[in-house]
Amino acid sequence: MATVAPPYFFLLLWLLRMTCSAFPEEPGPLNFIPTDVVRRYPVFLGRPHVTSLRQEPLLIQRVLQVNRTLYIGARDDLFRVELDNVAGEEMFYSKKRTWESNKNDIRICRMKGKHEDECRNFMKVLLSKAGGGLFICGTNAFNPMCANYTADKLEMVGDTVSGMARCPYDPKHANVALFAEGNLFTATVTDFLAIDAVIYRSLGDHPALRTVKHDSKWFREPYFVSAVEWGPHIYFFFREMAMEFNYLEKVMVSRVARVCKKDLGGSQRVLEKQWSSFLKARLNCSVPGDSHFYFNLLHSTSPVIRMHGRDIILGVFSTPANSIPGSAVCAFDMEHLAGVFEGRFKEQKSPESIWTPVPDELIPKPRPGGCAVQGTRFNSSNAFPDEMLTFVKTHPLMEEAVASLGQRPWIVRTMVRYQLNKMVVDSEAGPHRNRTVLFLGSSRGSILKFLIVPNQDNSVTSSNVFLEELEGYNPDKCGEDSPQAKQLLSLTLDKPSHTLLLAFPSCVVRVPVARCQLYSRCMKNCIASRDPYCGWTRGSTCSFLRPGTRLPFDQDIDHGSVNHLGDCDGKSICVHL
Ligand SMILES: *[C@@H]1O[C@H](CO)[C@@H](O)[C@H](O)[C@H]1NC(C)=O
Ligand SMILES: *[C@@H]1O[C@H](CO)[C@@H](O)[C@H](O)[C@H]1NC(C)=O
Ligand SMILES: *[C@@H]1O[C@H](CO)[C@@H](O)[C@H](O)[C@H]1NC(C)=O
Ligand SMILES: *[C@@H]1O[C@H](CO)[C@@H](O)[C@H](O)[C@H]1NC(C)=O
Repeated sequence: MATVAPPYFFLLLWLLRMTCSAFPEEPGPLNFIPTDVVRRYPVFLGRPHVTSLRQEPLLIQRVLQVNRTLYIGARDDLFRVELDNVAGEEMFYSKKRTWESNKNDIRICRMKGKHEDECRNFMKVLLSKAGGGLFICGTNAFNPMCANYTADKLEMVGDTVSGMARCPYDPKHANVALFAEGNLFTATVTDFLAIDAVIYRSLGDHPALRTVKHDSKWFREPYFVSAVEWGPHIYFFFREMAMEFNYLEKVMVSRVARVCKKDLGGSQRVLEKQWSSFLKARLNCSVPGDSHFYFNLLHSTSPVIRMHGRDIILGVFSTPANSIPGSAVCAFDMEHLAGVFEGRFKEQKSPESIWTPVPDELIPKPRPGGCAVQGTRFNSSNAFPDEMLTFVKTHPLMEEAVASLGQRPWIVRTMVRYQLNKMVVDSEAGPHRNRTVLFLGSSRGSILKFLIVPNQDNSVTSSNVFLEELEGYNPDKCGEDSPQAKQLLSLTLDKPSHTLLLAFPSCVVRVPVARCQLYSRCMKNCIASRDPYCGWTRGSTCSFLRPGTRLPFDQDIDHGSVNHLGDCDGKSICVHL
């Protein structure tokens, strides 16, 4: 009998080869932050003040920062927290509003076989509106609802509206929502069974539009990650099962899709009340080498950030669970990304044939997927010829994948026990506001801090510096010490207070961007930390350097060279301060 080696055997062989050749070295952090330092950082637990008792554990779903206020949408509860009002070890809310499902919705949810813990109102959409106020959607016991709330007193304004196509039914489902030019753009599933995935536009002065229903060319089991407004388009980032490979096995890939903000839908014959501009492309986050290694699972993106005169967007990717554990951060140039949508289209001529690029001469005019332009013959998407609309409907996928800047990741972590899945960038770090620091969050609740040293073309790798690693989750205060409890829901940067906000299901932890005081005893440690936020200042101490500071200070971020400095004589990291 022939024995068949399990697939991971080849993966391992392959990895051995790869680690020797293609993977950049992965040095550890310059500093591991001791747990007792982190355990003192302030935490939000859903209490109004210190003497109040905590009732049910929180189940946080979304956080939203508007100026100096943090809104927290949880299960059945909405909180308002003043970010400038923090003293001591706990952050308290200034306002709380409960929005529960009514008995009838809960009864129907239970009748449909859902557990009572799921038949509650999980707030999955939390947005601020241009004119002030909040727009909130909750799963409402598998019958999603949306409503407007005032930003100050958290009072519901007007009636509730259906949350269908705006909010998932099941709290476990990923969804995305964004307001642009008065329209609500959402990506979610529209049904109880979560089969019909949709990108939907509603509420504004344009007609409601959606993606084509039950067409695996448009979506195949998508997991929506984020959306950004850029130029005349909204870009949606997600992952889904690939349809363009002829493998028997299912392969997940990462994608970016876009629609024109002002799309009015197709003609009465083709794509009526559906996007006439929906196109998508694969994102290529891979390590080059003899055999390419792909990080196929997108977990989160940054907003569009401006670096060296270019608009770029960063994504955190990982390998699938059954593969070599690995995560990577890739950067994409928005101009280049948009350019892929002007390239070739991909098609499958028959269900058995392989996918090939569509020859240029077979692409109808005007170019499929474009936005209608005022003052031309096609000044509205309803006026597009049916041939062109039919082409868009049947060819939403682009041939080319979007290449990452420098054709390699900015950061790679492999063979570690965590997966990186959240990120936030400070592109104005340090006293001169000219350093880039990337904070990464992991599936184990830890935070990794990197100094990014880009070349002029924004392609970076080897020169990045892994500055710090710390455990962000605090089981002493947040409760449970389980892997689920440590799942980071979001990672945001509050610039005015120089802190990171880490949202977990049961708490929000506020972590300073730097811990300069840990290196206070000795100049060598301070300089060697290479932390752009820290400098050795007069009075012989390692201080946090405020942006624009006039204080004289010493730093050596680029080299951290300390050969000329005396030893610290065991005065290494100073923990008890
Ligand atoms: C909530 O606000 C949005 C945007 O301002 C508006 O379009 C919508 O009609 C409002 N909904 C309700 C129920 O008042
Ligand atoms: C488009 O152009 C036609 C004339 O060609 C005009 O009647 C119509 O109002 C225009 N529509 C828009 C939306 O500008
Ligand atoms: C991804 O990028 C690499 C490096 O540029 C390239 O060799 C590879 O063919 C690309 N993969 C796809 C699917 O485009
Ligand atoms: C940041 O600005 C300072 C002061 O202008 C300058 O000395 C330094 O070289 C700059 N660093 C980078 C990386 O641009």
